Amino acid sequence: MLDINKIRADFPILSQKVNGKPLVYFDNGATSQKPQVVIDAISKYYQEINANIHRGVHTLSQLATDAYEISRSKIQKHINAEFAHEVLFTSGTTHGINLVTNGFASLLKAGDEILVSALEHHSNIVPWQMLCEKTGAVLRVIPMNNEGELIMEEYDKLLSGKTKIVTVNHISNALGTVNPIKYMIDKAHEVGAAILIDGAQAVPHLKPDVRELDCDFYVFSGHKICGPTGTGILYGKEAWLNKLPPYQGGGEMIKEVSFEKTTYAELPHKFEAGTPNVAGGIVLGTAIDYMNEVGFDNIQQQEKELLEYGTKRLLEIEGLKIFGTAKEKTSVISFNIEGIHPYDIGTIVDKLGIAVRTGHHCAQPIMTFFDIPGTIRASFAFYNTMEEIDLMVAAIKRAQMMLS
Ligand code: ALA
Repeated sequence: MLDINKIRADFPILSQKVNGKPLVYFDNGATSQKPQVVIDAISKYYQEINANIHRGVHTLSQLATDAYEISRSKIQKHINAEFAHEVLFTSGTTHGINLVTNGFASLLKAGDEILVSALEHHSNIVPWQMLCEKTGAVLRVIPMNNEGELIMEEYDKLLSGKTKIVTVNHISNALGTVNPIKYMIDKAHEVGAAILIDGAQAVPHLKPDVRELDCDFYVFSGHKICGPTGTGILYGKEAWLNKLPPYQGGGEMIKEVSFEKTTYAELPHKFEAGTPNVAGGIVLGTAIDYMNEVGFDNIQQQEKELLEYGTKRLLEIEGLKIFGTAKEKTSVISFNIEGIHPYDIGTIVDKLGIAVRTGHHCAQPIMTFFDIPGTIRASFAFYNTMEEIDLMVAAIKRAQMMLS
């Protein structure tokens, strides 16, 4: 069981007032808050070991390099990758996806097919569309039902010898649906296709086991798991990372350079050109340690209770409709109130200290499916409480009265 008061004391921002009211932070799907240990680790890095990595024989460079590589190994263990060099540091999920789509440009030809799910964030749609434009490959969409679940019979039908890669999120950012990715990975492999899992919304809630999943690529961001912004991870199976060409040319990613020819460095450096976000990469390891100390069983238990209580309380509001009612769901509730624009609710509840996201959540095709302009999204984290849900419900009722 979590000692919620102790956990909340780890996050200085949670005791702040916003617009004169105690902050109720329910925009965890957009980014998580940071515990003191993470904030301290950033300043400790700059105070004590700041140096460029993999480049110097001097002491600070060695210290920074060691800390960076220790963090990589930590993340390798966390996701159960076979090798540390299968774990690439990126600036976030979007960077990881673009690295893969860029690499596939040299592997696809006209008529090849890419399957993308109807539940994707724009960052897992647009790079694939750009790849199709470059190669003549065709983008096909795995449809969803009214509950916001992907339809596996349709997925099975779409898979064929033409399918070269499937891309799907582990958990939908807009609806909270947990997708049946193990099934999807096995099915993609049956037709010889690779599969990328966008884990951005999953890693705050669970520990992915990439070896058990057997996915080819798994991407996520650091800032959604209590880590710094501008950090992320692309896991790729060694064989795939060796097959893909480098994403960016520059320092650190080479073996030898002459004006006639350049040869590339081994993994992971082949994909890590330029000076990376050293502090961010190191502190992402600190954030993962923190999450593991809290414990993913505890996190899941708290979030399950928040989801159940939040759903029950919100449904008491007249005219409120929840979008995304999948059987497998995480602690995200997307909803609208009849006759009121989500933006108006979001603006009024903000004045009452409540932070929720409103709009299309970078998932316009989902909004088009439901024929709505957007939703109000409350996304809970393990440091949220039932009392905060009561405050949100009271604020929404007040906004509803003002707007009707
Ligand atoms: N992808 C993030 C969200 O869903 C920003 O809010």
